[in-house]
Amino acid sequence: MLTHESPVLVTGGAGFIGSHFVLDWFSTVGTPLVNLDKLTYAGNLRNLLPVADLPGYHFVRGDIRDRELIDRLMNEFSPRAIVHLAAESHVDRSLVGPGEFLDTNIHGTFVLLEAARAYLDKLDSDDRAKFRFLHVSTDEVFGSLKPGDAPFEETFAFRPNSPYAASKAASDLLVRAWGKSYGFPAVVTNCSNNYGPLQFPEKLLPLILNRAIHGEPLPIYGDGLQVRDWLYVGDHAAALRVALEKGVPGQTYNIGGWNEQANLDTVQMLCALLDEFLPNSPHRPHAQLMKFVTDRPGHDRRYAINATKAERELGWRPKETFASGLRKTVRWYLDNQAWVQEVTSGAYREWMETNYGAR
Ligand code: NAD
Ligand code: DAU
Repeated sequence: MLTHESPVLVTGGAGFIGSHFVLDWFSTVGTPLVNLDKLTYAGNLRNLLPVADLPGYHFVRGDIRDRELIDRLMNEFSPRAIVHLAAESHVDRSLVGPGEFLDTNIHGTFVLLEAARAYLDKLDSDDRAKFRFLHVSTDEVFGSLKPGDAPFEETFAFRPNSPYAASKAASDLLVRAWGKSYGFPAVVTNCSNNYGPLQFPEKLLPLILNRAIHGEPLPIYGDGLQVRDWLYVGDHAAALRVALEKGVPGQTYNIGGWNEQANLDTVQMLCALLDEFLPNSPHRPHAQLMKFVTDRPGHDRRYAINATKAERELGWRPKETFASGLRKTVRWYLDNQAWVQEVTSGAYREWMETNYGAR
């Protein structure tokens, strides 16, 4: 019988958002959790050291596309939910090599849906009613906004522009279809740009911080006036926890920070914080390192989320302000240079050099 104490199966729990979700889970809910992660370049078990020895925590290294493995985990752990975060997540990588994105994000989601459906078929109706599949997605499925356009609402049409966004949109549509066709109990969240500790330094904020600390040029794509709606990752982890407990199957919820910023402003703010935290740095003022570079192909101009539904129906609102979240983030990267060193060596470094050369 499924109870509140039954485990949740998290995919991608060693990634950026996944590890915050797992850490948040054990400091709030605390019931058993199984973390299935392939440990690609983006997954790092060190992120999870604080929970690694807890009796309720289980780590399994494996691929969401491995149907046999998923079946085995479902039978062994009898989870009450799947929280699906595993994905290839970086837009620039999807432009260079879209295949892995389609495979992991679309086919991987399909395998999970089918394994969960087979598992549900074996449950009695009480347990079936308790089970949830939380599909974690992105605002990029909605495409790009112009200045003055209303922020994305859940009802907006999908207009993905990058291979990454298209792969996520496809996975969202699979989840929707499984709900409609099979009554599959899925809840979907579409979130804006996350930032905070433990983010792999290919994404804008940690990339800029890492390069600025070492006095390297700070690449600003195009004119730098693209707008992103930044959300502190801890607030996202809390939103996912609440969506899992209160989200209604068949519904989607937009999660965002109510925090639109042009990239140029974000980078300036990071540089100003580094100037403050590193008064003796030879690279001050760090903003002098900014360098305009060729734009990303198909670069979406503006994302902005209307998160009213999540506030009204889930009772969730972000707690962190951009000023407080940025301070915490900059402090964390300064204090954790060894982590940055570790994750930027090896496979990631080779990939960057093959595809982008030295920047
Ligand atoms: P991430 O790249 O940091 O982590 C992805 C994790 O998935 C890694 O631990 C990786 O090892 C794992 N993984 C990849 N392929 C796998 C596979 N085939 N089998 C098992 N594990 C696999 O990603 P993130 O930024 O933490 O994003 C997590 C999820 O949230 C993704 O689905 C992403 O689309 C979504 N999302 C991210 C953001 C953001 O700003 N980062 C915003 C909205 C939504
Ligand atoms: O909106 C949610 C999405 O946010 C998530 O679904 C994705 O997984 C996540 O990667 C993120 O996508 P973005 O493309 O918005 O994030 P990224 O950090 O790559 O870029 C943020 C902005 O900064 C974007 O406008 C591109 C720009 N940029 C990025 C890099 C890496 C630069 O100007 N220079 C850079 O070097």
